[in-house]
Amino acid sequence: MPHATPPAPTDAITISDDRSRVDLDQLLDLYRETWWAKNRGRAETARALEHSHPLITAWAGPRMVGFSRVVSDLTYRATIWDVIVRSDLQGRGIGRRLMRAILDHPDLETVTMFLLLTKDQHRFYAGLGFTHEKDMSMMLRR
Ligand SMILES: CC(C)(COP(=O)(O)OP(=O)(O)OC[C@H]1O[C@@H](n2cnc3c(N)ncnc32)[C@H](O)[C@@H]1OP(=O)(O)O)[C@@H](O)C(=O)NCCC(=O)NCCS
Repeated sequence: MPHATPPAPTDAITISDDRSRVDLDQLLDLYRETWWAKNRGRAETARALEHSHPLITAWAGPRMVGFSRVVSDLTYRATIWDVIVRSDLQGRGIGRRLMRAILDHPDLETVTMFLLLTKDQHRFYAGLGFTHEKDMSMMLRR
């Protein structure tokens, strides 16, 4: 009986901060797997990437299997957005590696506060040292 191609072992996954490598088509594909970014357009996404740094990607050969981006003053504060791992490769440490690449990134070395929003992944971020600051956050949606 034929078998599906087995997933790449985690050590075959590489993490990159090379922004020129980000593949917009594959990113839009990853976005389609999420509840918050599934309707994002190409031009808008390209513009958002232009103003984000660093852009972190995870690769299994030519396949972009993970992504995250940071918006920051590169000095004191950084916000982390769009942490996504391909659904068939979740639970293998790729999300943690994407996050470590952000938290350890040399351009963010002096940042003293990382902020992010999550609806349902609190335990994933708690494992990386994030704490719940329930009474401190305010948001204006528009
Ligand atoms: C959240 C997400 C990025 C995590 O990436 P991942 O590669 O699956 O996570 P990892 O395998 O690196 O897990 C790292 C640790 O977090 C834990 N973890 C991951 N997801 C978890 C969850 N939903 N609940 C509890 N623990 C979780 C893992 O068990 C692991 O713990 P360990 O180090 O003690 O073994 C990934 O599941 C994803 O892309 N989800 C869909 C998009 C999404 O919701 N993104 C977050 C938006 S805020």
